[in-house]
Amino acid sequence: MDRKVAELLNEQINKEFYSAYLYLEFANYYAAEGLDGFENWYKVQAQEERDHAMLFYQYLQNSSEKVTLEAIAKPDCQLTDHMAPLKAGLKHEQYVTELINTIYAAAFDVRDFRTMQLLDWFVKEQGEEEKNAADLITKMELYGSDAKGLYMLNSELGARVYTAPSLVL
Ligand code: FEO
Repeated sequence: MDRKVAELLNEQINKEFYSAYLYLEFANYYAAEGLDGFENWYKVQAQEERDHAMLFYQYLQNSSEKVTLEAIAKPDCQLTDHMAPLKAGLKHEQYVTELINTIYAAAFDVRDFRTMQLLDWFVKEQGEEEKNAADLITKMELYGSDAKGLYMLNSELGARVYTAPSLVL
């Protein structure tokens, strides 16, 4: 595998674990606020991010590439109100989309079609992640300022269940 592509894929393992850590921090915040549905939503999200990390890990392993695990940074976020995690979440997903695009471009440059095929799944996934994050903000803007609305939204998010990723390596 091209060195730069392998390096970026290895870095992405860390970025995805960081995403899991960030979303766990959001869950932690909502738990303290008594919003267990929001907590559940971000716990499921954190699980998905761990899956993403493991997919990159496994892909490198399957390609006989060395995996180097680095320290995971402390979540960098100011959770000042119920909206703050949602906005930080969208911003973070947009950042992750950029990271995936950067790896894709590096793979494209060296005609690494196998890595591009792996990343096709992530490109699609990022589209969904950004939409989910933006939808949450819209719902919170519409209903979040009303106690009954917030209660209903919390119940809706509490119903989210984890499903394993559709991508199998
Ligand atoms: Fe792994 Fe939320 O992107």
